[in-house]
Amino acid sequence: MIGLEDIKKNIDLPDSIKSSAVKFSEGEYLHKLIKENKFKKTLETGFGLGLSAASIITASQSKHVGIDPFQVNYDSYGLKNIEKLGLTPYLEFHADYSHAILPKLLTEKRTFDFIFIDGDHKFDGQFVDFYYAALLIEKNGFIVLHDTWMRSTTYLVNYIKKNRKDFQYVPQELRNIAVFKKVGADNRDWVHFEGFGGSSKSFITHKMIQKIHEEEDSFLKKTAIKLKNILK
Ligand SMILES: C[S@@+](CC[C@H](N)C(=O)[O-])C[C@H]1O[C@@H](n2cnc3c(N)ncnc32)[C@H](O)[C@@H]1O
Repeated sequence: MIGLEDIKKNIDLPDSIKSSAVKFSEGEYLHKLIKENKFKKTLETGFGLGLSAASIITASQSKHVGIDPFQVNYDSYGLKNIEKLGLTPYLEFHADYSHAILPKLLTEKRTFDFIFIDGDHKFDGQFVDFYYAALLIEKNGFIVLHDTWMRSTTYLVNYIKKNRKDFQYVPQELRNIAVFKKVGADNRDWVHFEGFGGSSKSFITHKMIQKIHEEEDSFLKKTAIKLKNILK
């Protein structure tokens, strides 16, 4: 099987959308995490350009579930990359929303030891992904959230830390990723609720994202994009 260097050399990341993929350093990190823990049953929401998928597959050397409804909008770049890297036999791809596929996998009684959440980054989208991931993950398995620089993701991180004692936060060296290990059963009673809030840094990053999306091409927008790349 190919390795990380082959991925770096051969993967196609078009300039216009390459910032949506995980960084190579993040792909290496996912790869290391999977190898060290000998994870074999992996899944991701938000398959995108296929960089995270390739990094995961080359570590597990097993079948990986990728979910993404929008490959057609991106000229199937992710699927083409996986094909180019010779990894297609290791991919089970679902061209649909994670909120449609995850409950199906649950009904089929599928389980996973590694789940990467990188699809819809709105709070509710990520929350639904986590909700199902928490039901699909095996004990001692990991759920990994990408883009913790985003305010929506920091709220989800805080929710899990404060409310889900069945998950242990695993500190790691990369700042844009949060790792949670499933350590026990979810024993909350029906009235359980602990409030969770975002940090002031995440308030600033959120305002920046809004500027990037709302503004016409302007000095402010360019500055916000530069700042985003520094903060990520
Ligand atoms: C940040 S990109 C993922 C990058 C990818 N992990 C990589 O390394 O190339 C986010 C992806 O999530 C997908 N997405 C958005 N909403 C989704 C949803 N509800 N379910 C699954 N994927 C979704 C988008 O089409 C996009 O490709």
